[in-house]
Amino acid sequence: MPEGTLAENLRVVDGPLSRNKLATLRDETTGTPEFRRAMRELALVMVAEATRSMPTRTVRVRTPLVETEVEEISGPVCLVPVLRAGLGMLDGALALLPEATVGFMGLQRDEETAEPVEYYVNLPQNIGDYLVLVLDPMLATGGSLSATLTKLKEYGATWISCLHAVSAVPGVERVTREHPDVTFYTAALDPGLDERSFIVPGLGDAGDRLYGTL
Ligand code: PRP
Repeated sequence: MPEGTLAENLRVVDGPLSRNKLATLRDETTGTPEFRRAMRELALVMVAEATRSMPTRTVRVRTPLVETEVEEISGPVCLVPVLRAGLGMLDGALALLPEATVGFMGLQRDEETAEPVEYYVNLPQNIGDYLVLVLDPMLATGGSLSATLTKLKEYGATWISCLHAVSAVPGVERVTREHPDVTFYTAALDPGLDERSFIVPGLGDAGDRLYGTL
């Protein structure tokens, strides 16, 4: 589905590199070590894309030859992985943003209702000062992400982008509508959900595949 068809604040990060990583992630024969590596590498691609919209400021430095103006990201960055599966993208994100602060959102979908249940929150109190990148490989019904975004805004976050490997259209429709001020990046946009609210075709349960708890 072409970018912009669903919502103005949706960006599909599509290209040979992200497709290659997704091919590995979707394949059910991919084992945990390779799955973890592909998720980390996809996070690198996603973070490189998502940081393109970050505000920058001009500073002066001296090169070995002269003084000149350069650009740097204008605020501190806070990465917020949604536990557990978001942790699979954290290492890649930190490789590109090593000075980032890390906040945590612990949510577990109830297997019967698919509603998110919050079990752990640890965010910087001054999160309003940060450019926030939410990390979660899967956006299915959008319940977990919507709860995460509501919590982040309660804490004062204003600049927020979300990074996902695979998103389902119904979940994207929900979060882009409920959070028009947030930008959503996904490597894949899948058509729907099955009766258990799993993304189809999807890649299964990312948390279980990352941590071998199948
Ligand atoms: C998965 C996934 C998202 C959520 C997406 O986590 O990582 O957080 O479900 O579903 P939703 O859009 O319908 O809310 P899960 O609850 O399985 O927890 P886990 O990461 O600990 O395995």
